[in-house]
Amino acid sequence: MEDKVISIADRRTQATYELPLHKGALRAMDLRQIKTGPDDFGLMTYDPAFMNTASCESAITFIDGDRGILRYRGYPIEQLAEKCTFLEVAYLVLFGELPTSAELADWVDQITHHTMLHETTKKFLEGFRYDAHPMGMFISTVAALSTVYPGARNVHDAEARKLQIYRLIGKVPTIAAYTYRHSRGFPYVYPDNDLSYPENFMNMLWKMAEPKYQAHPHLAKALDVLFILHADHEQNCSANVMRAVGSSLADPFVCTAAAAAALSGPLHGGANEEVLKMIDEIGSKDRVPAYVESVKAGHGKLMGFGHRIYKNYDPRARIIKWAADRVFEVTGGNPKLEIALELERIALQDEYFVKRKLYPNVDFYSGIMYQAMGFKPEMFTVLFAIPRTVGWLAQWQEMLADPEQKIARPRQIYTGHEARDFVPIEKRGVKAAPPTR
Ligand SMILES: CC(C)(COP(=O)(O)OP(=O)(O)OC[C@H]1O[C@@H](n2cnc3c(N)ncnc32)[C@H](O)[C@@H]1OP(=O)(O)O)[C@@H](O)C(=O)NCCC(=O)NCCS
Repeated sequence: MEDKVISIADRRTQATYELPLHKGALRAMDLRQIKTGPDDFGLMTYDPAFMNTASCESAITFIDGDRGILRYRGYPIEQLAEKCTFLEVAYLVLFGELPTSAELADWVDQITHHTMLHETTKKFLEGFRYDAHPMGMFISTVAALSTVYPGARNVHDAEARKLQIYRLIGKVPTIAAYTYRHSRGFPYVYPDNDLSYPENFMNMLWKMAEPKYQAHPHLAKALDVLFILHADHEQNCSANVMRAVGSSLADPFVCTAAAAAALSGPLHGGANEEVLKMIDEIGSKDRVPAYVESVKAGHGKLMGFGHRIYKNYDPRARIIKWAADRVFEVTGGNPKLEIALELERIALQDEYFVKRKLYPNVDFYSGIMYQAMGFKPEMFTVLFAIPRTVGWLAQWQEMLADPEQKIARPRQIYTGHEARDFVPIEKRGVKAAPPTR
């Protein structure tokens, strides 16, 4: 019993409290009873950026950042990347177990038959400027699907939810491919139901005049592995957004669009694009030491390095290196790889990075690999959003099924003015001093 209860002594009142631990964590609401008097609101926790707050229970993804472990539903990421297809992993992440042959066949069939976009959605995409960022087009188009499927608002209906899951997983590659074709000025290619999930995506991206697109099997496999690695990553910034927006019972299309918006930032999924920009800025291998010194001196960050959770290594980065080798066998080496390897070598020996436990993360090599496959950096985050849609939907379903969840609504510590009287405009000559924190 002892280790399941924590004692708190309040020196303000000399009161002591015995607070039970819930699965090893203190329930923040239990702190409310710690008061200095009847008018006191009760104790709150203050945790900007959720550095030490579990916002939910989850059975989807396990990460041990110190030991570099990532598991989906208990299965190590290394085994899934080696032995499964992405759609098999998607089923596991969403429904909790690996599918049987019959379940997998039905699942693949459902996804394959939900890949088409309504023609009005295609027209919607055509309205973007020629140089629109693909991630902006992706986010807006996913949100626009909400208008095509009004039944999606019925979030408490399990069958309706399942249909939206088929639609979203089926359609995100189509939207992604259309954003790419739009930016290149190429006509859109319709999905081909004979092809696997990654092959069909490649078909919609790169088919030109040939009657049937043939994806290179090594590139299709590498893309599938990348999709597996990116499927979920527990309570990251975009998953948290998916849950927060979903907690208001908004439909899954707008929730996914919101999560994708969170992903687009350079500190999250936008990092792989930034890695390429950084490597371009460095320019050549001999300039790496000077660049590392400038980062240490406080001029920017080494993009693709560091992680809030992984403080040993990012297990996905290792698998990506393996997949990158397979890609380079087909495409030939990427000169940027040489700069990246040198950057990694120097940073991993440098006390600044060692002391802060900064290692290459998943984004460090994925961008170089994507570029070798023919993608422009603007597309990188869209490529991340395709598989992460699976994780977002799994988090969303889990949130809806959790009886403890309510609309997400944090507290704040107010630091503004006390109440004060309105000042008419003619009397506002002298600015009041800004509030102090
Ligand atoms: C991922 C990231 C946002 C995690 O941030 P975080 O957990 O809040 O870590 P902090 O920003 O507190 O970093 C801790 C220390 O390491 C430094 N640091 C973190 N990432 C760094 C990087 N990529 N390059 C140089 N220094 C870095 C910080 O400046 C800080 O140093 P200090 O203690 O001297 O102030 C951060 O490492 C980062 O911005 N990385 C680059 C972007 C990136 O690759 N994102 C993809 C994530 S998958």
